[in-house]
Amino acid sequence: MGRKLLLEHANVPGIETFEVYRRNGGYRSVEKALKTMSPQNVVEEVQASGLRGRGGAGFPTGMKWSFLAKPEGVPRYLLCNADESEPGTFKDRYLMEKIPHLLVEGMIVSSYALGCNQSYIYIRGEYMWVLEIVEKAIAEAYANGFLGKNILGSGYDLDLAIAPGGGAYICGEETALIESLEGKRGNPRIKPPFPAVKGLWGCPTVVNNVESIAAVVPIVNDGGAEYAKIGIGKSTGTKLISACGNLVKPGVYEIELGLSVEEFIYSDEWCGGIANGKKIKACVPGGSSVPILPANLITKTAEGTDRLMSYESLAEGGFATGSMLGSGGFIVFDEDQCIVRNTWNFARFYAHESCGQCSPCREGTGWMEKVLRRLEHGQGHMHDIDLLAEINKKIEGNTICPLGDAAAWPVAAAIRHFREEFEWHVTHPDEAVKRNFGIASNHMPLV
Ligand SMILES: Cc1cc2nc3c(=O)[nH]c(=O)nc-3n(C[C@H](O)[C@H](O)[C@H](O)COP(=O)(O)O)c2cc1C
Ligand code: SF4
Repeated sequence: MGRKLLLEHANVPGIETFEVYRRNGGYRSVEKALKTMSPQNVVEEVQASGLRGRGGAGFPTGMKWSFLAKPEGVPRYLLCNADESEPGTFKDRYLMEKIPHLLVEGMIVSSYALGCNQSYIYIRGEYMWVLEIVEKAIAEAYANGFLGKNILGSGYDLDLAIAPGGGAYICGEETALIESLEGKRGNPRIKPPFPAVKGLWGCPTVVNNVESIAAVVPIVNDGGAEYAKIGIGKSTGTKLISACGNLVKPGVYEIELGLSVEEFIYSDEWCGGIANGKKIKACVPGGSSVPILPANLITKTAEGTDRLMSYESLAEGGFATGSMLGSGGFIVFDEDQCIVRNTWNFARFYAHESCGQCSPCREGTGWMEKVLRRLEHGQGHMHDIDLLAEINKKIEGNTICPLGDAAAWPVAAAIRHFREEFEWHVTHPDEAVKRNFGIASNHMPLV
């Protein structure tokens, strides 16, 4: 049984209330930090923990915090990124729904460490019921003296507010989130300057994922060194994984990093294997923006070693034979699933969500979506497959924010690993349409 640092008490009845949360050890980290540690001590513990940001990129949290500029007389802000709109990723929602005080507690300790007196939780616009849950937890924290003026008599003041998101995936990109919080359209900013220097209202700002902020609680409680003992190599601690697709037991799991992918998919403790006794065909291990892995590279690397649930192991071999842990959205496809259809589905999402500022992304995502749509509808040509790869190259690395890359990588990987399936759609249009839509191709409108 893996250790649980975040979800240990998630199923305790009433844990969403302050009283039950406190009875189960809640808010200890605030007492410890405010009474016995300097803000710098807290930063050092987070650095020692090796915690890597859980929002997708895996950048070390302690290092990010150390970059925060501290000019005299200028406020600093901590923004919690609870926008969570990546297809296949729903772990932050689960954490906030089940154990909202853990996020509030993490926000208090992290804000103290960073010297912020006003912090915000930016919650996805579609998560309105989650917003209400977190709002209630914040109100309880105020009522019990953990937020507001002179918290626990320490002299430290903190106000915490919620900002409902703009209902767009791009608002999860940190600079777009800042724009949106400022009341503007959520368009990403050109970096530099980075938010650590010039963020919300031009002030130094840290943007962190929900899970990253929650992980600061056990790090402060038990010490960074203890946290670093869990996991493997530079992938320390535990990680929330939202597992979905053709699994016997989809759901949100807290795993110790370094667990084998094989065990995660097939053991009864975790996903319980592939649903309906089918075989696995492919897996997207880190949310819709990461490269897909074919069956032979899911549990084993190209070198034949066990693939592990860690930042390094999932990426082993680069994009030719690896993928990314990303946001932990683990999507499994069984042998009956159509890769072309799935790739089109993701491409539709990115084309719809592109903010339109950069031509390669605005035009390229729409173009890829159109080409994939015609392939899926049995109206594609062989040269469409190479055309997709061409468009990909034009987008990758040529945009303001990583949404362009996020749109390009899954298409490139699907063609790399499943080219025959794309070709089959061209050579067998009627069968492809019948299989995927259940009707003859001449009845298929190309909408
Ligand atoms: C298009 C796009 C959407 C993103 N959406 C999210 C999101 O919903 N939640 C999140 O934490 N990070 C998201 N990110 C990453 C954030 O920009 C940022 O790196 C992250 O919030 C930093 O937190 P961390 O260091 O704790 O991982 C997104 C990035 C891009 C490019
Ligand atoms: S890459 Fe796409 S989403 Fe990002 S700024 Fe450019 S157009 Fe907008």
